[in-house]
Amino acid sequence: MAQSFVSQLKRTHMCGELRDTHVGQKVVLMGWADTRRDHGGLIFVDLRDRSGLVQLMLNPSEAGNAMAKDIRGDFVIAIHGTVQKRPQGMENKNLPTGTVEVACDRCEILSEAKTLPFQPGDEKVSEVLRLKYRYLDLRSVRLQEHLKKRHEIVLAVRNALSAKGFLEIETPILYKSTPEGARDYLVPSRVNPGTFYALPQSPQTLKQLLMISGMDKYFQIARCFRDEDLRADRQPEFTQIDLEMSFVDREDVMGMAEHVTREIWKSVKNVDIGKVPQITYTEAMNRFGSDKPDLRITWELKDLTERLKTSSFKVFSDVGARGGAIKGLFVPGTGAFTRSQFDKLTDKAKQMGAKGLVYIKIDNKGAITSPVSKFFSEAELKDIYKASGGESDNGTVFIVADDFSVTCAALTTLRSHLAEELGAIDKSKDRFLWVTDFPLLEYSPEAKRWVACHHPFTAPKDEDLQTMVDRNEAAYGQLKAKAYDLVCNGYEVAGGSIRIHRQDIQKSMFDALGMSEEETKLKFGFFLEALQYGTPPHGGIAWGVDRLVMILCGTDAIRDVIAFPKTAKASDLMADCPSTVARDQLIELGIRLIEK
Ligand code: AMO
Ligand code: AMP
Repeated sequence: MAQSFVSQLKRTHMCGELRDTHVGQKVVLMGWADTRRDHGGLIFVDLRDRSGLVQLMLNPSEAGNAMAKDIRGDFVIAIHGTVQKRPQGMENKNLPTGTVEVACDRCEILSEAKTLPFQPGDEKVSEVLRLKYRYLDLRSVRLQEHLKKRHEIVLAVRNALSAKGFLEIETPILYKSTPEGARDYLVPSRVNPGTFYALPQSPQTLKQLLMISGMDKYFQIARCFRDEDLRADRQPEFTQIDLEMSFVDREDVMGMAEHVTREIWKSVKNVDIGKVPQITYTEAMNRFGSDKPDLRITWELKDLTERLKTSSFKVFSDVGARGGAIKGLFVPGTGAFTRSQFDKLTDKAKQMGAKGLVYIKIDNKGAITSPVSKFFSEAELKDIYKASGGESDNGTVFIVADDFSVTCAALTTLRSHLAEELGAIDKSKDRFLWVTDFPLLEYSPEAKRWVACHHPFTAPKDEDLQTMVDRNEAAYGQLKAKAYDLVCNGYEVAGGSIRIHRQDIQKSMFDALGMSEEETKLKFGFFLEALQYGTPPHGGIAWGVDRLVMILCGTDAIRDVIAFPKTAKASDLMADCPSTVARDQLIELGIRLIEK
């Protein structure tokens, strides 16, 4: 039966398309029965597809509509009918199709549906259940809109880059480790027992090889795999818009990336993002305590180290003596904050590693409250308040003293948290920022060696090249990279760099990272060899597509913009994976499991 309708009659329209201009036309529609109401012998069904809803009117006493009485919620049906204007007073202003309805003369049930375990998009339903039935949750308008926007973004990128002469080239998924600071996902090879592929953390080395090949301008909508701790804006597999260009310097790549980002915002939001400001990593840390500051928040950190390191408050003088940082953040409109509010904020600062939180509050009558009032006179407290940017009463200065990184982490967390809580974020505009001049290397106390801040292929700034050549380890911490991040609303949406294109420098880099010659050869021998056959200076960048879509959809959960996302434990609840495999498969791969 079902076959007959679909093979005889082709769908003419999508449900959400119908308007007054279609009145009088014969249409064939197919979709899901959203709701059904019976009224004076007639059956009304809202028919739903990806484009929206339209009301159907069916008279079950007509031969062609005999099946209508069996239609239930989420049954898949096909109808033939005539578009007509709804009777006066019966229009639905909330529906784009609300002025019309389709009077059906033929209807067929194509497939029945069990009662759904929940209503798609119902926020009250547990996320576990929604992820288990992800295909049903994807019926919600909200998630469908997100996936449509994702498509628009990728399309805008493809168009913008193709117009600029970039070639879209695919690179392998079964490959060798491409380090980006996470663990690799490994895939055992059956044909070559005991050996493994690594899924790419990014196509980094491959796109550089394409530059050596002379492909000049490459891009790819690339799937990346990283085994790392997950957060609200991180998934174990995610998508990048990845690009690489030859014969360029930093400004060329940043200019191209800004152009593409501008095109995305133009096509999706119809807004011009304007010229994106640039600041260095050092300036970002000093002013905002973060290398991805949210510029929608206007408050900035102030350095108080010089002023407070000689104070009689031991916490401050100790931190000053050991070369730490004392910083203050003024937050207006907090003059009525209570002790318990400050206690909660202190806990927040402690979660970020701070040992405590000093505050100096001035209420709207000018009265000062501070846990360190016994160490400072009222005039001194007022001076600190002022030096931290406190221009008027009814505000609080928050002060943290610790190692630079802890002080920054604690205060930038308070900055974001309080701005959200006090409604001090101007959400009407997206705010972009380039952060440049990142450190090249940072020392990892856990690994007891230097690690690359971006990745090992990033070039040092020209003035720092010699330090690499000389392998002057004492200066490694001061080296700056030709790396840049594009930040939007506090998210790192893209990151890239100019690459090392000289083989000797690349070798020095692997050496600086503590890799033996043997290890270097095993992991990157092919790459080091390639660098010797004529390598153009090159550089590139990659956007996190998921993060872009998140921002453009106004959600802060990366799962909301991925069709089939994974949980924080990197599992898929719908297909129930990762899962165990049959013993035979393990034997074939030559793998024996060990108990942990
Ligand atoms: P990077 O590691 O900075 O650079 O990644 C580029 C962008 O990818 C996004 N991203 C993620 N999104 C979701 N989940 C994750 N786990 C995740 N990790 C990263 C971020 C980030 O800005 N090969 C280099 C690029 C280059 O140098 O050209 C790279 O991968 O938005
Ligand atoms: P205490 O003398 O330990 O009671 O601390 C007095 C105040 O200093 C409390 O409000 C603590 O939260 C705060 N405090 C302690 N250590 C630090 C620190 N490293 N940075 C900022 N505030 C601190």
